[in-house]
Amino acid sequence: MNGTAVNETAVKDISPKFDISLLAPIYQFLQCETPDQWVEKARLPENLPVLLRDHLLCELKAAQSAMFLIRKYAVDPQSADILLAWFKPYEDFAYKKIGDIHSLKGKNQVTKQITARKKSPYGQDLIDKMVLLIKEELHHFYQVLEIMHSRGIGYNNISASRYAKSLFQHVTNHEPYTLVDKLIIGAYIEARSCERFAKLAPQLDEDLGKFYISLLRSEARHYQDYLTLAQSISQEDIAERVSYFGRVEAELIQSPDHDFKFHSGIPIYQNSEIKN
Ligand SMILES: [Fe+2]
Ligand SMILES: [Fe+2]
Repeated sequence: MNGTAVNETAVKDISPKFDISLLAPIYQFLQCETPDQWVEKARLPENLPVLLRDHLLCELKAAQSAMFLIRKYAVDPQSADILLAWFKPYEDFAYKKIGDIHSLKGKNQVTKQITARKKSPYGQDLIDKMVLLIKEELHHFYQVLEIMHSRGIGYNNISASRYAKSLFQHVTNHEPYTLVDKLIIGAYIEARSCERFAKLAPQLDEDLGKFYISLLRSEARHYQDYLTLAQSISQEDIAERVSYFGRVEAELIQSPDHDFKFHSGIPIYQNSEIKN
């Protein structure tokens, strides 16, 4: 049989229970919806482990990118050290397999204020928004880990998909455009995650569905935070740049992709996966 056979498991909406108006601006912002073929693959029980492992790492990466941004552009040296210490147990777990769900409990806190460096053009506003975002992403990381733990899904450090890497290849290499581009990319990653949570929620079991819906609200705000920051930093209207990255992003979502992950494109089925 050819790849069209997977349509037998066509996507059906079971019970979407969330405020659809939350998604309206996201659909307006993104230049395409997630194709049904991706949802068809993502809802298969055998793909849940890879989906959750990748989601777990995406939450950490979302936190890390926000942290790297404020370390590079905005915070004073003491705060830079505090940020690294905050992340250490999470990174040790993710990359060195040091620690576990129990040792990570209660680690998501910063004891001192993260403050702006002198003469930083970016200031406290960027820092405060990003610190809040980091806390939320690390909380999501822990929540995904709890779900994996409760389902007996072990953690492996799996390779990243092409998605973020490909987006970052388009970043302008001189400031302040570099920062503006990175913030716009951050907005797209957040918005796409949000859109995928909404697509997936009705397709998964009740507990996972509820969890993905619970994530919608914070991710919807994150994408707007990134966009607002990008516009506040740029001297020019960012609309054209936003639309450029929107096209690049949509192309990654709508083109064939052999590596199934949370942000992957249209799945290419291996022969062994094609159902008769
Ligand atoms: Fe998140
Ligand atoms: Fe987020």
